[in-house]
Amino acid sequence: MSPRLPWAAALASGLAAAAAAAAPTAAASLLTPAVAAQQEPVAPDGVAAVADAVLRAMDRTVEPCTDFFRYACGGWDDRTPLPADRDTVGRSIPAMIDRTAAWLAASLQPGGALADARPGVLFRTCVAAAADGAAAPPPATLADLAPALLRNGTTGSTPAPSLGAIMAALGQQHASGVGGDVLWGLAVEPVFETGGRIIKLRPPKSPTGSRGVNRTGTPVGDARRALATDALAFACRAGWAANCTSEGVPPDDLIDAALGLERQLAAVPVGEAMARMSLANAPALATYLAAADVKIPEELMVLHVTYFEALFKFLDDPASRAIVPAYFAYAVTVDLAKRDLLGADMTASWMAFLSVRDPDLFSERPSVEERCTQRAVRGLPDEVARAWVAANVAPADTAAMAAIFNDTRAAAAEAVAATSWLDGPSKAAALRKINDAEIRNGGDPVYDPYSDVSVVATGGGAYADNVLAVSAASWRRVIAPLTSAAAAARWRRPAFAFDASYFLLANRVTMTSAVQQWPLLPPAAATGVPAALAYGGAGYVAGHEFGHSLDNTGILFNSSGKLVPLTILSPASSVAFSNRTNCLVDQYSAYTVEQLGDSPPVRVNGAITLGENMADAFGVRVAADALKAALRSRLATKTVAASNPVLAKEFTDEQLYWVAVAQTWCIKRSDANLRRKVEDGPHSPEPFRVLGPASQSAAFASAFECPVGSPYRPKQTCTIYGA
Ligand SMILES: *[C@@H]1O[C@H](CO)[C@@H](O)[C@H](O)[C@H]1NC(C)=O
Ligand SMILES: *[C@@H]1O[C@H](CO)[C@@H](O)[C@H](O)[C@H]1NC(C)=O
Ligand SMILES: *[C@@H]1O[C@H](CO)[C@@H](O)[C@H](O)[C@H]1NC(C)=O
Ligand SMILES: *[C@@H]1O[C@H](CO)[C@@H](O)[C@H](O)[C@H]1NC(C)=O
Ligand SMILES: *[C@@H]1O[C@H](CO)[C@@H](O)[C@H](O)[C@H]1NC(C)=O
Ligand SMILES: *[C@@H]1O[C@H](CO)[C@@H](O)[C@H](O)[C@H]1NC(C)=O
Ligand SMILES: [Zn+2]
Repeated sequence: MSPRLPWAAALASGLAAAAAAAAPTAAASLLTPAVAAQQEPVAPDGVAAVADAVLRAMDRTVEPCTDFFRYACGGWDDRTPLPADRDTVGRSIPAMIDRTAAWLAASLQPGGALADARPGVLFRTCVAAAADGAAAPPPATLADLAPALLRNGTTGSTPAPSLGAIMAALGQQHASGVGGDVLWGLAVEPVFETGGRIIKLRPPKSPTGSRGVNRTGTPVGDARRALATDALAFACRAGWAANCTSEGVPPDDLIDAALGLERQLAAVPVGEAMARMSLANAPALATYLAAADVKIPEELMVLHVTYFEALFKFLDDPASRAIVPAYFAYAVTVDLAKRDLLGADMTASWMAFLSVRDPDLFSERPSVEERCTQRAVRGLPDEVARAWVAANVAPADTAAMAAIFNDTRAAAAEAVAATSWLDGPSKAAALRKINDAEIRNGGDPVYDPYSDVSVVATGGGAYADNVLAVSAASWRRVIAPLTSAAAAARWRRPAFAFDASYFLLANRVTMTSAVQQWPLLPPAAATGVPAALAYGGAGYVAGHEFGHSLDNTGILFNSSGKLVPLTILSPASSVAFSNRTNCLVDQYSAYTVEQLGDSPPVRVNGAITLGENMADAFGVRVAADALKAALRSRLATKTVAASNPVLAKEFTDEQLYWVAVAQTWCIKRSDANLRRKVEDGPHSPEPFRVLGPASQSAAFASAFECPVGSPYRPKQTCTIYGA
């Protein structure tokens, strides 16, 4: 994973993970027993409770220098089975994400914090629409759901619609926020050199997914045809398709036309080429943007140019354009069905297809309540974020995190300054990167009241109207950064989404409010909490993100996020850097993943995981230094001796710090999940995220007095940054 993505990728997909894990009905049943079992009591308070939360997760019968991962996590591991329906379970980040999901689900239920607010109304109408079964939206709403099908001459197919009519219809459909990408997708992204924004167009996802899209006469092919038949029959009844029989049945050639174009689009080799395109040379795209309500910029970026070349060549031909209305009717109807907008029969039709195309996904499909939770939360994110923060994260916690950021940044600068292989200019450039890094801490300071969204009260058709209101608003928010500096400055993710990340192109570290919770960050108001717990949790995460700014990718970008190889490192320092990073690659490549057996043994890929391993090594070093400095000054009352006599009997501050670092990674994975992680993931499996950095650390060896040659104090060590 590139470091611009969240720090704990698989776990931290924030809202998606939160919503997927969200539980069914009443608050009392929100956590299945298995999920509840992984959770530590929320924010323990007091000497005994805090000590118990740490000690209970441990197995202190094991030698720390031999197996520190087991030493820190063994108690939790023994007590926490992996539930049959999950592929990971964890004490820290996964539990935090589950708790957020449970809170969000409960907040929308009767009596919940958001039940009477607009997200609650949206949720209720969504659930009611599903319970209401066959009730399809009223005709007035149908017209709004499918602008691509009703306007600008795209409903009839004789004569073939003009290119302009297709472009205008497409723009209107995109601006409605529903109906899917149809033909392409649009994003608005920053251009860091200019401080401006650019539009990016990319090929769409196939409405029914690419798997088996070009096969006929197979089970998936048959299922796809059955879905297309249902979708076009719906479209015929809705007046969205031409060429229907008088009974409103789609004839075979209409179905063939729609499926044929889907296959053709999916078969275009997309290639890697991208191009900046001036609108002066692309009048069709200008028509599209005008209809999509995008204030016309001068240029846009087209990703995977081959796709667009093939598409426009196809659209040049009137015979081809005659097929487009059938395809629009099919693609848009399927997308609306996926969103439960067309009543129970179309939802069932989509599910029937999914059960054949993707049985695993089908068996894990979210319940109605889970889908409706996602929709309400995504539809009105700022309202949800405000309520979630008020209930879950105190301003004092965000302030505590700000202070930890300051301490880790200062320690990071000291580590860079003490790095002997960096020559003068390289060191200055690296320091500048650390000192200039932008920090986003907590939640987006700009609250968006979504005053352009009306969520109507529960009633016939209210769900569809509500979805239309929030979907069109989402589109407006996608394009707003083109014309509004305030919109451009808004954060990408809301406060409740777990986001600890480093964004390369802006030299920015983000830790949202969702990260500022027990156990990563014990609440500022709790008593009996030694600072070592916060620095081993949130401090280590902050240090890790700073570490990405100087990892093997980050080092190629200057402090304004511009790719300029050899600006940070001089040629001489660059040679030394490679030598040192090779050491780390070899270290991790020697690790064998025991859980996956030994025939054949599965090894960590030290090259792919290098960036994350560098960030881990950097993170544990600077957070330990930051803790030491803070205990000497600002946090003198938070030494373990001064704050928690029970823990002080067992640990020094240094030892407790390392326990907290390791307990961040008390995670269990299914074999399949672990194998995927090892094969594709940028992160090493959790036991090596503890062994790797701890065994390279002189501070760890000294804290636990490890003998040279023990697993956690090997003879050879690699050091990249620091003395
Ligand atoms: C498409 O239809 C809309 C109204 O439905 C109209 O405002 C617009 O001008 C039309 N565009 C073209 C290119 O015909
Ligand atoms: C059909 O799809 C498969 C895999 O998705 C691909 O290997 C094959 O080349 C495709 N065939 C055609 C005719 O596009
Ligand atoms: C619709 O019918 C017209 C003639 O009635 C025919 O030319 C056209 O190809 C048909 N389109 C589709 C997609 O079946
Ligand atoms: C962090 O440091 C900045 C400047 O270095 C200072 O303005 C800010 O008050 C500090 N914040 C905390 C919480 O210590
Ligand atoms: C980063 O590199 C770009 C392009 O060379 C340059 O314009 C910019 O000033 C550099 N930033 C810094 C902080 O050196
Ligand atoms: C390479 O790194 C090792 C430590 O990892 C160091 O002992 C050695 O001197 C370095 N060699 C060069 C050429 O920098
Ligand atoms: Zn990372």
